[in-house]
Amino acid sequence: MKIRVLGSGAGGGFPQWNCNCYNCSRIRQGALRGKRRTQSSIAVSHDNENWVLFNASPDIRTQLENFPAAQPKHGLRDSGIKAIVLIDSQIDHTTGLLTLRESTRPLEIYCSEMVKQDLSTGFPLFAMLEHYCGINHHPVPLDGSGFEIPGIEDLRFHSHALKSKAPPYSPHRHDPHEGDNIGIVVEQVSTGRKLYYAPGLGEIEPRVQASIQTANCLLVDGTFWQHDEMARAGISQKLALDMGHLPQSGPGGMIEALSAASRARKILIHINNTNPILDEDSPERKILDEAGIEVAYDGLEIDL
Ligand code: MLT
Ligand code: MN
Ligand code: ZN
Repeated sequence: MKIRVLGSGAGGGFPQWNCNCYNCSRIRQGALRGKRRTQSSIAVSHDNENWVLFNASPDIRTQLENFPAAQPKHGLRDSGIKAIVLIDSQIDHTTGLLTLRESTRPLEIYCSEMVKQDLSTGFPLFAMLEHYCGINHHPVPLDGSGFEIPGIEDLRFHSHALKSKAPPYSPHRHDPHEGDNIGIVVEQVSTGRKLYYAPGLGEIEPRVQASIQTANCLLVDGTFWQHDEMARAGISQKLALDMGHLPQSGPGGMIEALSAASRARKILIHINNTNPILDEDSPERKILDEAGIEVAYDGLEIDL
């Protein structure tokens, strides 16, 4: 299968429009060796022609403009994007649906019941899109059992609930429900090769651990290096876990969790602009290099 990283940054992207933190200010001045990043999304295909979009970022217009494989090829209006899987209802993962409103057919959207509810109430994108292209909602199973997407042959999708956070506008922001956030294993049936995609992940539960151990490629939560990163940067008192993200460093952190994955390519994605790993010369980046962990960047393509 082919995987394209459309956007590797967390909400706000890098640099963020109003941020003058140590990273954002230095990249603007040309004083940081690193890459700018748009907001969180990937696309996956079995044939390099029909793509499943995972999350629709506010930056989707630019992301698709830079991605010829999914651009129109047949007829006057067309797209290689055949379906959209939403892993949660956060702004950075859903706002791009509005940009897709010109679609000539209803958007085929795969998401949990909780995400559907958020996008029908607190952030009523689904209702708004009814005035444009409309949507077809397909519920995703949360027991890991798996589902298929018509037109996407040879790929099977296994989704499971994650411990993370519903967005601030969710009617149950402070009352977590199964399916507020999901992780997905994408399996190519003919080869048995598996991608695990979980950009928002607060806890290494047994299902997460099992997916980390069995997948051939991991694209997992790389939001924060440490718990109190936002506080240290003087930006916010919110801790990583308050936002549903497991930090990389420290006991029980993502680096430790990934050490269990012996055969996989390990890649962090959804990197917040405060994270020191954005600086390719940072000691934190060196720690990742030594642990065999990569940092996703916009435009990264993976042949799995
Ligand atoms: C998150 O995952 O917590 C988001 O990046 C927050 C946001 O988009 O505002
Ligand atoms: Mn996010
Ligand atoms: Zn910043």
